Amino acid sequence: RGDSARRGRQQGEITLLRDAWVAVEGGKIAAVGQGQPVPEAGDTLLDAGGRLMTPGLVDAHTHLIFGGFRPDEFGWRLRGESYMSIMERGGGIQSTVNATREASEDELVEKAQWFIDRMSEMGVTTVEAKSGYGLDSDTELKMLNAIERLACKTGQRAEVVATFLGAHAVPREYAGRTGEYVDLIINEMLPRFKGKAKCCDVFCEKNVFELEDSRRLLEAAAAMGYSLKLHADEIVTLGGGELSASLGALSADHLLHVSDEGVKAMAEAGVVATLLPLTAFALKEPYAPARKFIEAGAAVALATDLNPGSCFSGSIPLTIALACIYMKMTVEETITALTLNGAAALGMADRIGSIEPGKRGDFVMLGCDNYNVLPYYVGMNCVKTTIFDGRIVAENP
Ligand code: NIG
Ligand code: FE
Repeated sequence: RGDSARRGRQQGEITLLRDAWVAVEGGKIAAVGQGQPVPEAGDTLLDAGGRLMTPGLVDAHTHLIFGGFRPDEFGWRLRGESYMSIMERGGGIQSTVNATREASEDELVEKAQWFIDRMSEMGVTTVEAKSGYGLDSDTELKMLNAIERLACKTGQRAEVVATFLGAHAVPREYAGRTGEYVDLIINEMLPRFKGKAKCCDVFCEKNVFELEDSRRLLEAAAAMGYSLKLHADEIVTLGGGELSASLGALSADHLLHVSDEGVKAMAEAGVVATLLPLTAFALKEPYAPARKFIEAGAAVALATDLNPGSCFSGSIPLTIALACIYMKMTVEETITALTLNGAAALGMADRIGSIEPGKRGDFVMLGCDNYNVLPYYVGMNCVKTTIFDGRIVAENP
């Protein structure tokens, strides 16, 4: 329950209703009750058969639009090369940029739809999608247009929310001229994409966009009406957590190496900590300090970070298992992280993320009546039915 992020101890307090029913009208939740429902003539009934139902899941951080794939890079990393050293020699994000510039908008849409369909089967009803593999104005626009087409498709299986991430890397044309690239984003891209993307994000990292460039960019974005997000303290401790707090960002994400001051500042400023355990796992890095955030009174969201480089996985089941087993989150905190707090990380907690009248009719029906199955059945999908906007959009055997 709630229409804003649940923080601190409240994150683990969820309401479990037994013998419950939900009425949905015009895609929205009209009423929630317990006992025998009294259907009206013309109502369609769906019997959950005693199964557990949660709010639809929110994946608040993905890069699901991209050209090409990078399996060779994964092999290099297994042999000991680091993510940043591959990026510094022109691989990594830049290699996906080359492939994305080549790809047509249709190709991008078709490829992303495949990922959305798989995520829908795992219970996702709202998914964030970032641009950031164009790094020039026209290709960034092509990515945002692809996201818009996915969002507007009739019969769509999930809401798709666009984030502009022009500051994902410094493109090779601007090598050594980071400030000039930031100028280009501020003067040309941000005004051009206003209305196409709700949030503006930046890869705030040593040797990519450092604190001053990130601040300058995000302040300009905020002045144009974008909500703010940051890839913060992912590879080294830089102060991204503190920066997100001082800017009043919606969320700071990754945070594997956040400082204690950063945790405290984010808790005080109400910035959602969006943690991405699949990325830590795939990069063999330490997990983000989820308990520190919760104990400091902050709100934690969980997301997949699906992308072709650092984390080629959109697995919600594995995200849940890693969060519970390695980040020591309780199952209840994990459920909040993937529903209401994910919604808050997108500035949407007043519309989705809980089962209450007025919210969109987004639900996940599990295959059984016990939510502990979510981390217990490690890496396996225990979703039976996904309902988006009052419609059944995925049914698993
Ligand atoms: O969230 N760190 C920057 N961005 C992505 C990775 C993108 C890529 O490697 O293609 C991330 O980890
Ligand atoms: Fe990311």
